[in-house]
Amino acid sequence: MNDIKKIGIVGTGVIGAGWAARALANGLDVVAWDPAPDAEEALRINIDNAWPALVKMGLFDGADRDRLTFTSDLVTLCRSVDLIQESAPENLELKIKIHKELGELAPKEVLIASSTSGLLPSDFQAESPHPERHLVGHPFNPVYLLPLCEICGGKLTSDENMNRAVEYYRAIGMYPLKLKKEVAGFLSDRLQEALWRENMHVINDGYADTKNMDDAICYGPGLRWAMMGTNEAFLLAGGDGGMRHFFKQFGPTLELPWTKLKAPELTDDLIDKFVEGTDKQRAGRSIKEMERLRDDCLIAIMQALRTYKVGAGQTIDEHDSRRIESAGNFDLVQAEAHLPATPSALYQCNVRPDWVDYNGHMSEAYYVLVFGHATDALYDHAGMGEDYRAQSKCSLYTVESHIRFLHEVNEGALLELDTQVLGVDAKRVHFCHLMKSDGIVLATTELMAVHVNTVSGRSVPMTDTEQVRYRNLMIPDPPAWVGRSIQTVNPEKAS
Ligand SMILES: NC(=O)c1ccc[n+]([C@@H]2O[C@H](COP(=O)([O-])OP(=O)(O)OC[C@H]3O[C@@H](n4cnc5c(N)ncnc54)[C@H](O)[C@@H]3O)[C@@H](O)[C@H]2O)c1
Repeated sequence: MNDIKKIGIVGTGVIGAGWAARALANGLDVVAWDPAPDAEEALRINIDNAWPALVKMGLFDGADRDRLTFTSDLVTLCRSVDLIQESAPENLELKIKIHKELGELAPKEVLIASSTSGLLPSDFQAESPHPERHLVGHPFNPVYLLPLCEICGGKLTSDENMNRAVEYYRAIGMYPLKLKKEVAGFLSDRLQEALWRENMHVINDGYADTKNMDDAICYGPGLRWAMMGTNEAFLLAGGDGGMRHFFKQFGPTLELPWTKLKAPELTDDLIDKFVEGTDKQRAGRSIKEMERLRDDCLIAIMQALRTYKVGAGQTIDEHDSRRIESAGNFDLVQAEAHLPATPSALYQCNVRPDWVDYNGHMSEAYYVLVFGHATDALYDHAGMGEDYRAQSKCSLYTVESHIRFLHEVNEGALLELDTQVLGVDAKRVHFCHLMKSDGIVLATTELMAVHVNTVSGRSVPMTDTEQVRYRNLMIPDPPAWVGRSIQTVNPEKAS
């Protein structure tokens, strides 16, 4: 059970601002503190820049940027929050000093988490009067979108506080990865840093520039990494022989001088190569512009993974279900699982935030998606679902459709799809769906589907029993709009 509702952010740079944005989008209160003179303005700008992405992901009830307070008084922050997320610069002496101070100021039940990229909590908790509540919650940039949060306790951190942290990070939509043992660099940064060292060697030795190295990730392994880690990817790389075959084939290459691992000397010349290379890649774009593009791409990748419920897609799917549930709306997952037994309203769903376009309404593509799911629900209902397709090698192919858009469809609306069969013969099913919300018909579609043998690709007759299943769903009087088509707009004809 998560008891953390008010968050303190200490250090409001790239990571602190990301934490603040994520907490606000989840309907929490945030109090922030940073010693830099222009910190509040920069923080609010960064949150504003992140907000459109958070809106696309779906805001929790009560989410409001006005719930951010910036204070110049660290005591006020420490006394008013349930958890402090320290995101100060990566420097052990500084972290020891800050954690001691936070530990002295905050009541003992307040959790104190550090965003450190690799410093050990045992090294900065010891001087606090209550070291058992200090731990690491290591996020990834952008914190407001990427779900991974590595949770690492120190020698003195209590199990109870580790579990509280896991519950909190899960409640704000993250994937809490609790480390088995405290280890410098945690898990992801050990991997990232190995890559970074090799990246520097290749560029330092003149084999490639920064863009070549980025291309070497984006067009290949990077795409795979969104849904499977290195180990699973290499399992498949071993073909049917799997991991054992992979080791047999590539194990010996570990002896070859492919990688150096020890970082090269950070000369001015090497740093210039990175600065000049990435400036060229940036092609005049501002950092904020690149951040927004990155956010849109990350959302698109996570939404694609959501369809298959893998990796980050599963995390955002579960969190979005919690968001819809907490808003008192119909739960999408439950709706899909508990379809009514009656022929009408075979399918229900909520309009997801990412289905809404620049006009603030559901975009056309998602009408097709929702109607498509309703069609599948009809086929399932008529006994022509997955098992039927696998066994009979037959399926229904849509050959024609006509959508009418009648009213605006808004984010979060509960859509109920009424399905009516209009006609059936040996090879064809003619049917329509009515998309309704609160009893109002928002859109309709009329479809013709042909029964096809999926091996030959030719239309084939359904059995009488199969036809009867659709006939049983026929309505006596088709709606007046059935059979309508778009009338040509031709001024000459009109006159
Ligand atoms: N940037 C990343 O990609 C990333 C990813 C994960 C974790 N981290 C970790 O997050 C932490 C913050 O990194 P960042 O990238 O946001 O750095 P940053 O430089 O963007 O921000 C650091 C902020 O800390 C403030 N600050 C300075 N002295 C302070 C003090 N004594 N107490 C509190 N705040 C102070 C600065 O004014 C600044 O606003 C580091 O520990 C870093 O390792 C960074």
